[in-house]
Amino acid sequence: MRREALYVVLGAAIFLAGCASSTRELTGCAELLNSGFRPIAQDRTERFLGKVQEATALCRGGDKTVQFRDTPYVDWENYWATGDESSMFPGTSAVGGHLLPNGRGVDGALLDLEYQRIELIKFNLFDNSGTYQEYVEGRDGVAGPALKVWKEMRLPQDNPNYEAVGGDGQQLCQGELIRFRTQDGICNDIKNPLMGSTNQPFARNVQFEATFPDLGKNDLARNRHGDRLALLKPDPQVISRTLFTRHQSQPDKCREGQGLPGYSADASCDYKKAPFFNVLAAFWVQFMTHDWFSHLEEGHNRPEMMPVGCMQKLAGNVEKPLTPEEIANLGCRPYDRMDRAYIAAESDPATFTFRGKEQLVRAYKTTRNTVTAWWDASQLYGYDQISHRRVKRNPSDPAKLLLEPVGQRAGAGEKLGYLPVFQPSDPINPQWADQEATAFPDNWSIGTSFYHNLFAREHNLFVDAFRRQTVLTPEADSGLRNPVRPDEVIRYRDVNPDELFEVGRLVVSAEIAKIHTIEWTPQLLYDEPLYVAMNANWHGLFHGHELIAAALEKITVNNFGKSENAKKAAQWYSVFASGPGIFGLGSRVYADDAIFARYDPKKTDIWSLRNPDHVNGGINHFGSPFNFPEEFVTVYRLHALVPDLIEYREWDRDPNVIRNKIPVVETFRGKATPAMHERGLANWALSMGRQRLGLLTLQNTPQFLQNLSLPRLQTATGKIDVAALDIIRDRERGVPRFNEFRRQYGLRSLKGFEDFVDQRLPKDSPERDEQKRLVGLLREVYGQHRCDAIKIITAAQLNDDGSPINDCLGHPDGSMVDNIEDVDTVVGWLSEFTRPHGFAISETQFQVFILNASRRLFSDRFFTSSFRPEFYSHLGIRWVTDNGPDGKMMEKGRPNGHEVEVSPLKRVLLRTIPELAPELEHVVNAFDPWARDRDGYYSLQWQPRPGAEWDEAFTVPK
Ligand code: HEM
Repeated sequence: MRREALYVVLGAAIFLAGCASSTRELTGCAELLNSGFRPIAQDRTERFLGKVQEATALCRGGDKTVQFRDTPYVDWENYWATGDESSMFPGTSAVGGHLLPNGRGVDGALLDLEYQRIELIKFNLFDNSGTYQEYVEGRDGVAGPALKVWKEMRLPQDNPNYEAVGGDGQQLCQGELIRFRTQDGICNDIKNPLMGSTNQPFARNVQFEATFPDLGKNDLARNRHGDRLALLKPDPQVISRTLFTRHQSQPDKCREGQGLPGYSADASCDYKKAPFFNVLAAFWVQFMTHDWFSHLEEGHNRPEMMPVGCMQKLAGNVEKPLTPEEIANLGCRPYDRMDRAYIAAESDPATFTFRGKEQLVRAYKTTRNTVTAWWDASQLYGYDQISHRRVKRNPSDPAKLLLEPVGQRAGAGEKLGYLPVFQPSDPINPQWADQEATAFPDNWSIGTSFYHNLFAREHNLFVDAFRRQTVLTPEADSGLRNPVRPDEVIRYRDVNPDELFEVGRLVVSAEIAKIHTIEWTPQLLYDEPLYVAMNANWHGLFHGHELIAAALEKITVNNFGKSENAKKAAQWYSVFASGPGIFGLGSRVYADDAIFARYDPKKTDIWSLRNPDHVNGGINHFGSPFNFPEEFVTVYRLHALVPDLIEYREWDRDPNVIRNKIPVVETFRGKATPAMHERGLANWALSMGRQRLGLLTLQNTPQFLQNLSLPRLQTATGKIDVAALDIIRDRERGVPRFNEFRRQYGLRSLKGFEDFVDQRLPKDSPERDEQKRLVGLLREVYGQHRCDAIKIITAAQLNDDGSPINDCLGHPDGSMVDNIEDVDTVVGWLSEFTRPHGFAISETQFQVFILNASRRLFSDRFFTSSFRPEFYSHLGIRWVTDNGPDGKMMEKGRPNGHEVEVSPLKRVLLRTIPELAPELEHVVNAFDPWARDRDGYYSLQWQPRPGAEWDEAFTVPK
C-alpha cells in the first residue's frame, strides 16, 4: 500500500514535470517506477554491468541513451546533464529539480554508481592473507562479510609490540599505540593490529582463479588464452614502441625528451593534452601512490635480472624474431635488462570446497606492499624504521620538519624554506644521493620534490598555529587526550614537541585525503555526477541537512555496522553511509536518539576514549581486511600523464611567458633538488599549474620514460623502457588481461578491437578515423585466432541469453576473432576511447577506484570514528574541516551551479606560497589549468581566462 502511495506521489510529480519531457520518455519513467528498483545480484553472473532497461534509459537520457545501450560501456554516461551544457535536456541550462529530465539524468547516474559500489563490495573482495575461506563460509554463525576480527591480523610473536597488544590472548591495541598513526601502520584498527601495516600482502579484487592467466592453471585460463601468453609474449617493448610512443612532428626539437641546450623554449615534444587537468595533477597522483603502495624494497627489486623484450613480434599471427631493421624502426633495445619483481608466496595455494565448488584460499602467487596501506602520508613521515630515519626534524623545534632557507629569492613563502639534502650518513640507496631528504625518495623528480616541500611547509605552519594558540590560551583545553590517562585534560601548554609532530602528521594526512577526494578526483572525473558522488564520500549527500545526516549516520553505524547479516553489514552500510558521508562516520555517539541530538544543546556526545567500540566503531572492512589489491596498482600506472618538457614560467615576471622548456628527465633524482632550489616552489607551482597534462590514451607515453637511464642496473644499455616495464610487472604479478579484468569488475567485456571505437563520434570524423588506425595497430600486435565455441572462457559472467561466454565471443564458431582476451590491462584501458564526459581515466580504471577509494576511507579509524579532538586537537579538527585555521572561505559565484568552498589545495598553496595569490585568485580547482576559462557547465574548452590571453599555451596550435 505504501509502495503504491509512493508511486502516486512520484507519478503526479512526474506529470507536473512533464512539460519538459516527451510522452515516450515519461512512459519510460512510469515503467521504471512500476518495475521498482533493481535487486542486487545474488550471483556474480547476474551483475548490473552498468546497463539499464530500455525504459530506464529513456527516462534518464531519452533516445540518445537508448541508442548506445548495445555498446559495452556504462549507460549513465549518456544520461541528461552528465556532460557539458550540450548534454542537458533541450532548452534547459541548469540541472533543476530531481524529477525534471536533467535531475533524472544526474540522479540516475548516482544510483547506477551506488549499484556498482554495492556489487563491487559484494563480489570483489579477495584477501590474500588467509581470511578468504572464512569470508566465504562465515564463522560461528556470523556471515563472512559481517566478520570484523581475524586471527591473521594479530601481531606475530616477533613483533616488538606483541605483548603490549595482548600477546597470545585477545589482542587489543591501547595506550600510546592508539594515540597517533604508528610508524609501520599497526593499530589503526585497534582490534586487528596488523591490518594495513608495512609488508602485508596485496589483496586482489578478482577471483583468485582468474589471476596469473599465463600460468594456464585452469581450463578457463587455457581456453581464454590458448598458448599465446608468457612473460614476454606478446613482446612488451614491441607493444610499447607500437602502441605507446608519442609521435613527434619535430623530433630534433624533442630529442627523446631531452629538449634543447640551455633549456631553450624552442624545444618541443608533442603530446596529447587534457584541457581540464594540469601537470600538478599528474605529480599529485604519483605523490599519492608513494603513500599507498610500493612493491620495491628501498628502490630495488629482486637481485636476479631478466630480459625485457624487443625480441619478437607477430607476423600473420605467428611469433617471429625481430630483424635488425625492425629493431631499428621500432627503436627498442634487446639488451635492456631489469631486476625481477619480488614474490612473497608461490607455492600452490590450498583449496576448500563451499557449496560444491572448489576454491583457492589465495592467489597462485602473492606480493607484499612494502609501505603502509593507510592514507597516512607515509611518503613524508615514514613507514618503517629505516624510512623514519630519513625524515629530518628541526633540532631547535622537533615538532617541525627541518626546512632551510635557500638563496634570496623574492616571495613571502621563501622564508618557510626547503627540505634539506640527504647526507652520506643517511640510510639511502646510493641512487638517491643529493636528493631532498624524505621518507619515500624513489623516482624523485621536480614533481615529487614540489609536493614534499609543499606539505613540509604546511606541517610547519600547523605547528606555528598551534604554538600561537598556546601563547594565546596556554591553559585552555587543546582537545588532545592521552589514552593512557584518558580523563586528564591536556592544555595547550602541556603538549610536547613529539606529540605536536604526530598531531601535525594526522592533520596533514587528513588534508591530503580531503584534497584527493574532493579536489583531485572531481577534476579527474569532471562532470556533475562525480562532483556530487565524491563530495558525498566526504561530506555526505545530505551536507547542510544535519538532521537527515545524523539519522543516517546512526542507522549506518549502530544498525548496519553491528549487524551479523551480510546484506546489512555490507550493502546497506555502504548505501546509508552516502547520507552522512564516510569521513567522520561514528565520531559522535549519543546516549539515546541521535536524530535530534545536534539540535538539542542538552544532549551530550558520549564518545569515549576509554571505549574501544567508540574508538573503532566507525570503520567497516566489509568482511575482508583492508589492503590495496594488485589490480589497483595496475590502474595507477599513469605514466602517460607526464609531459616530456615542463613549460617553465616565473610568477614575478609576466606569467604568460614560457621562458624555458625544462625536460622532466633533467629533474630526475638528484637533479630535482638544484632545479627546485634554483627556481623555487612558486615558479614550479605556476608552471605546472598552467600546463596541461598528457591524456591517458594510446601513443602518449613520455619519450624520456621509454629511454630512462637507471645506472644502478649496470646493464649493457643502462636504460629501461618504463612503459614496457608497466606491462611486464603486471604479468609478473598475475593481473588478469583486460577483458577478463572488466568481467571480474562487473563491466561488460568487448567482442573485438572495434569495440574500442567511440560509437558516439560521427562516422566520418577524423577522431574516429584515428581510433580505427589505432585499433589496426592493436590487431597487429595482439593478433587473431580461429575460435572454438566449445571452449568456455570465464566464470564471472554469462551472455545476455544466459549461455556461457565462449572463445568465439558471439562470433560464428571457427571464425577468426581478435585476441582481445590477451590485451594487457594497461593497454586496454588506454585504448578505451569511449568515456564519460570529462573523464581523464577510463571507465575500467574508474570501476577500480569506486571500490578502493571508498574502502580506504571506510577502513581507517582516523578518518571515521577517531576523527576527534582527542587525536587531532580542536585546532586540528578545525584545520581539516575548514581547510585551514581561518574558518571556511567561499568562492565567488556558483561554479557549475554549486556554492563551493575555496578548495583545500588552493588554501594550502595560499598559505605556503602566498606570492601566488594574484594567480590563484582565478583558480577554483587547483588541478584545472590555472589560466583556463572554465566557462559554463563542465566545459572542456581550451580558452584563456581574462588576463591570460597572451599566454603562449593558448596562442600556439593545440
Ligand atoms: C618523473 C616521473 C616518473 C618516473 C621517472 C617514474 C618511474 C618509474 C619506474 C622506473 C617504475 C618501475 C619500478 C619497478 O617496477 O621496478 C615506476 C613504477 C610505477 N609508477 Fe612511475 N614514474 C614517474 C611518474 C609516475 C606517475 C606520474 C605516476 C602516476 C600515478 C606513476 C605511477 C607508477 C606506478 C603505479 C608504478 C608501479 C609501482 C609499484 O609497482 O609499486 N609514475 N615508475
